[in-house]
Amino acid sequence: MLGYASQWRRSLDDPAGFWREAASAVQWSVEPARVIEQGEESWTWFPDAALNMSANCLDRHVDAGRGESVALRYHSAMTGTRKAYTYSELRDRVAVFAGALRDLGVTRGDRVLLYLPMTPEAVIAMLACARLGAIHAVVFGGFAATELAMRIADARPSVLITASGGLEPGRIVEYLPIVRKALEAAPGIVSTVVVRDRAAVPGSAADLADAVADVRFVDWDDVTEGAEPAEPVPVVSSDPLYILHTSGTTGAPKGIVRDTGGYAVALAWTMRHIYDIGPGDTMFTASDVGWVVGHSFIVYGPLLAGATTVLFEGKPVGTPDAGEFWRVVAEYGVKTMFTAPTALRAIRRVDPDLEELPAGALDTLQTLFLAGERLDPETWHWANDGLGVPVVDHWWQTETGWPICANPVGVERLPGKAGSTAVPMPGYDVRILDGKGRDRTGTEPDGSSPEGNIALRLPLPPGTLRGVWGSPGRFREAYLSAFPGFYATGDAGHIDADGYVFVMGRTDDVINVAGHRLSTGSLEEVLTMHPAVAECAVIGVRDELKGQRAAGFVTLKAHHPIAHDVLERELVALVREHVGPVAAFRDVTVLDRLPKTRSGKILRKTMRQIVDDEPYKIPATIEDPTVLDDLQQALRGAVVHP
Ligand code: COA
Ligand code: AMP
Repeated sequence: MLGYASQWRRSLDDPAGFWREAASAVQWSVEPARVIEQGEESWTWFPDAALNMSANCLDRHVDAGRGESVALRYHSAMTGTRKAYTYSELRDRVAVFAGALRDLGVTRGDRVLLYLPMTPEAVIAMLACARLGAIHAVVFGGFAATELAMRIADARPSVLITASGGLEPGRIVEYLPIVRKALEAAPGIVSTVVVRDRAAVPGSAADLADAVADVRFVDWDDVTEGAEPAEPVPVVSSDPLYILHTSGTTGAPKGIVRDTGGYAVALAWTMRHIYDIGPGDTMFTASDVGWVVGHSFIVYGPLLAGATTVLFEGKPVGTPDAGEFWRVVAEYGVKTMFTAPTALRAIRRVDPDLEELPAGALDTLQTLFLAGERLDPETWHWANDGLGVPVVDHWWQTETGWPICANPVGVERLPGKAGSTAVPMPGYDVRILDGKGRDRTGTEPDGSSPEGNIALRLPLPPGTLRGVWGSPGRFREAYLSAFPGFYATGDAGHIDADGYVFVMGRTDDVINVAGHRLSTGSLEEVLTMHPAVAECAVIGVRDELKGQRAAGFVTLKAHHPIAHDVLERELVALVREHVGPVAAFRDVTVLDRLPKTRSGKILRKTMRQIVDDEPYKIPATIEDPTVLDDLQQALRGAVVHP
């Protein structure tokens, strides 16, 4: 096998040759004759090919005689349930559930929305949609009714699949009241809701029989019973496999559209060359199917590779303790693990000396991959030294679907560098551009490497976003218009003399709380719903555990007196009700005025620097510099943590 540098170079010099070769790892119904069709700002990978993703993830392995190997291990630290599904079993369950969906009228191209906890039904439902060529849109269980309604209104699914609820430490999350509220807020779209009745959570389809006009609630087991298994439906390679909504700069989430063929090719390459996973290996990705990490590396990637994937319901700490991740590794002989830096920081906080790590538990573990937010060098060192397993920080986004930068340990193990997400992966020509779009990639004569906007030269490799659902204009405007010929990642950073990429933070209003991507704009929209709030600003401030947290600053309407502590409690509750617990919104500061420029723009960056106790310059355009003193004073006494 060629080394990393040669493979990466070849992917840029001869993309068609590189990806044609990679495409041979996928089973096509119609083999690709052409590799890429390219316009000025558009490109389609494998335009004339056809395949089915579910067949590639399941039937293919069964047909190859590996039906008895374990495809999925369900491990619930919440209920104590352990369950293994072989490839044959999983294929059969998926085929029958796909049959049930077909009986409900779902066909190729239809959207199906999934709002499910981390149970095997989530995987089965995703693969069942893929089997029919239907497009799934999974919504993370930590989002509240308003966010769910926005996604229903955008994706317009005919069927919604849910469960009675999820389990969080110390509380049950009942989904059905949330679903009902969302359906009322986005009426006339969903015709059928399939409900998986979970013994641990009250509520069932029967409870909602006539709850929402024109919506039928049916039980998962009832629709599945007697359904004829569905055969995989071949789709055109560029057909969407899924929509996954993610936060942008505005309150309206962007529905990232993923194609089928390019994604299959990219993931197949990735599993072998980045994660070093193949048939017989076990991968444990501790994330959620509601995030892109779950789509790519709990569900599609490991199953495409014919490996075993672990579906983990629980938390890194407290379910029951900080040793649960390590016990999962030991119990299933995990070779590759993937989680978010926050999870490691949570473990470190309660078990700094790794006393809960049983001796020998990590013997099978070859690499621990981390992504989703910046990995601080301190945690990187702690994990590398304490676990005795190489830790790889790698960088990607919902939009790209697979890593932009990583250490490709399946090709060769490159030396790690604290603070860096290692090197660009094939097809990614990563450049550092200044505000005017000038290429600043490389090192200065003094050896320093300039920081700037991280951009990717077009076309993007297979598996990356096809667009924004229902809005070609938004795709252009959000990603392609800032730097013509490039995709703007929204991240800032630099590339050192060895070609290692350092991702330092966002250039927009996106923040990352415990690896969950949130838009400060959507939080601001919620705060302004409160009748007492005149103006507000939400910024992402440093948080020792979660990397960042959202801090809200509000000014009050003169004619609406309200005690500050009451207001603060109401605002925290409002965000929880509209965005969901995932926002983990707790900090509110009431100010007399917000710092602004003379043209009325809120000085969010300066505010963040002040809160984070970083050096800052008073912007020349500031309307009234004394407002910053007020802010400093307020911060000394007023940040609340209810
Ligand atoms: N359903 C309902 N509520 C949820 C939820 C879900 N699926 N997931 C989280 N929540 C709730 C939590 O219970 C918590 O509620 P609380 O305020 O009542 O305590 C709140 O949302 C904040 O949760 P979070 O910040 O996630 O903390 P946590 O302790 O629940 O979990 C981690 C910590 C590290 C396990 C979790 O943050 C995590 O998995 N992060 C990584 C995410 C990821 O994979 N990112 C990759 C992005 S692609
Ligand atoms: P998401 O789309 O939810 O996966 O979030 C993507 C964003 O998370 C990126 O644009 C980065 O801002 C951030 N991110 C993801 N991985 C990393 C990483 N390894 N280092 C720094 N930031 C990261």
